[in-house]
Amino acid sequence: MITKHNLSTDSTQQGHDTVLKTHTNSQQLVTGTLALSVFTAVLGSLEFGYNIGVINAPQKIIEADYNATWVHRHGEPIPTGTLTSLWSLSVAIFSIGGMLSSFCVGFISEWLGRRKAMLINNLLAFIGGSLMGLSKLCRSFEMMIFGRFIIGAYCGLASGLTPMYVGEIAPTSLRGALGTLHQLAIVTGILIAQILGMESLLGSEDLWPVLLGLTVVPTVLQMALLPFCPESPRFLYIVRCQEHHAKSGLRRLTGRLEVGDMLAEMKEEKRRMDMERKVSILELFRSPIYRQPMIISILLQLSQQLSGINAVSCTSLTPFCSYLQLFLVERMGRRTLHMLGLGGMCISAIIMTVALALLDSVPWMSYISMLSIFGFVAFFEVGPGPIPWFFVAELFSQGPRPAAMAVAGCSNWTANFIIGMCFQSVAELCGPYVFLIFAALLLFFLIFTFFRVPETRGKTFDQIAANFNQHSAGGMMDMDLDKPSTELDYLGEDSIN
Ligand SMILES: *[C@@H]1O[C@H](CO)[C@@H](O)[C@H](O)[C@H]1NC(C)=O
Repeated sequence: MITKHNLSTDSTQQGHDTVLKTHTNSQQLVTGTLALSVFTAVLGSLEFGYNIGVINAPQKIIEADYNATWVHRHGEPIPTGTLTSLWSLSVAIFSIGGMLSSFCVGFISEWLGRRKAMLINNLLAFIGGSLMGLSKLCRSFEMMIFGRFIIGAYCGLASGLTPMYVGEIAPTSLRGALGTLHQLAIVTGILIAQILGMESLLGSEDLWPVLLGLTVVPTVLQMALLPFCPESPRFLYIVRCQEHHAKSGLRRLTGRLEVGDMLAEMKEEKRRMDMERKVSILELFRSPIYRQPMIISILLQLSQQLSGINAVSCTSLTPFCSYLQLFLVERMGRRTLHMLGLGGMCISAIIMTVALALLDSVPWMSYISMLSIFGFVAFFEVGPGPIPWFFVAELFSQGPRPAAMAVAGCSNWTANFIIGMCFQSVAELCGPYVFLIFAALLLFFLIFTFFRVPETRGKTFDQIAANFNQHSAGGMMDMDLDKPSTELDYLGEDSIN
């Protein structure tokens, strides 16, 4: 579909048709190995989503258990302040675990390889899940809090490793669609957690440890499936210089015997990478080459967390918006979708504010506010939800990518933590007008995206990196001419934007 679309947008390129059609078609093939590898990887995202969603439903019940534990230990009911702090800590320490571990994504993925890193990471989920699941039995909220910390650390690693692995094993033409599955799995995880967290299912006094402990299920599944998935060929070839292994991995993933063109693309990237020095996090901030992509990556991550999505608890319908996103992302381009999402969220936030302010005097405003909340969430899933992760993976070549992922992940978790800690008090201060703050932030991010963020759809990592370098030199056209294999992607792009 993508090929057809791109071809039909420009009739002057008929001469290239046959060559390019076969080239792109062969890239679009989804093999069993590719499907299995992507599925296995996004189990990590599912688990990430599950742990985001799982903590809200049983709050009152878990608090009652903290109280019971306190009574058991001290012979008196827990002071309200202490209970609030213990609960806030249980929730927020998740972000701290994620913040710390997301910083290690680069180092660990380089040291162990993507696949083994995911495998080892499951140990964290296993320990964290067990600690939380057994905390009631052991009458220990310390175990619960520590378990949340460990599971947060798992999620920090998973949220970096999964998009990295999926982005690296996916062929260029499918990178967007497959990358969306990460976000789709997150919202699916949230949804599963919300359903299972209902009081009639597992959100009850006796069963909440099962609800929290269930997080080990995807872990076990992922551990069982990972040995059947190939290590990222891009990693094997570019980082480990194992051409032979990379080749056999590529063959398994593409189902083709002839993988010369993909290997050539990696070779080209490796050649350039060998010319540049290895990039550490510090250098990432110092070097002017990376300054612009770095600022873009961080601001896009902030646009996700500061969009106000965490303030809206209605996420149940979002998987459907994500399915839609899956089809949109390769057709419309990341930049367009991000702007569409931000703009839609901004407008929804303003309507929501008006509706909430008028709620007392105009009864039917409650419908408007519900609609606007749904719009808010839907637009989030179109743009700021999934898109920032694409950009981090796509704006950087292999050398600086792990470090960039770490910085982006860390800024995402930090923003998440800040929102988690501050939103409640700011909301009490501002009342219904709190969403105007988010609307202003969204508008800012929209303007930023419009002026500063380039399109990355259908471009190879190298081309994107070259885009930044050439952008400053003022010559973007040259790039199209010496890369005939993706020429039509550009043309398709231009005709849309
Ligand atoms: C803790 O439990 C006791 C009963 O054991 C109850 O009277 C008290 O209100 C509870 N405290 C809180 C903060 O819920």
